[in-house]
Amino acid sequence: MKREELKRAVATAALEELRDGMLLGIGTGSTVNHFIDLLAEHRHRVQAVVSSSEASSRRLSEIGLEPVELSSVNDLDLYVDGADEATKHGHLIKGGGGALTREKIVAAASRRFVCIIDDSKLKGVLGAFPLPVEVIPMARAYVSRQMVKAGGRPVWRSDFVTDNGNDIIDVHNLNIMNPLEMERRFNQIAGVVTVGLFAQRRADLLLISSPAGVRRIEP
Ligand code: A5P
Repeated sequence: MKREELKRAVATAALEELRDGMLLGIGTGSTVNHFIDLLAEHRHRVQAVVSSSEASSRRLSEIGLEPVELSSVNDLDLYVDGADEATKHGHLIKGGGGALTREKIVAAASRRFVCIIDDSKLKGVLGAFPLPVEVIPMARAYVSRQMVKAGGRPVWRSDFVTDNGNDIIDVHNLNIMNPLEMERRFNQIAGVVTVGLFAQRRADLLLISSPAGVRRIEP
């Protein structure tokens, strides 16, 4: 089965989590793009949608769902997003597409976070995928030095600026045994806007696509 087919299958499974009249949060990435495309047929069921990136906002507009500001609504009922890595505990690495800050905000403001992945992303330990960290541009070198002290190998994503006008450092070689502790620790570093670890606000439901079908893990 091709990877795109696995993404489509898991996006289809996520549609079953949708209820009429929901306030919906939408993540970013190629898996979520399938979900947005499928949502076109169900858009009348959605009360309002909040987007986590300019890219997803454009795609939502194309299907006739104009995103609203997060601050104009109360807590969201459901957030659907992909991930770069996940554990069975619902801890995630996100930000491969650079949208981690808005994703973390929308996830935090949502009562339920459904994460849609294919089985290649389910790991015993996080960290094979380099950890994206969004930083205020003037803090880039300073934060990079702190990442070296923490045992990582930081690489500046030099051709990329986030939707918030910031830089991304991808931190390689981290063996993330305790995601919650690492998220808290890295959050303390001056100049860090967002760490791509989603442990404090983890996924409530993982939908995992494989050639055998879509399975559910509720951490
Ligand atoms: C965007 O910044 C990321 O957090 C994405 O959610 C993540 O990279 C998954 O993207 P794909 O579905 O394209 O793999």
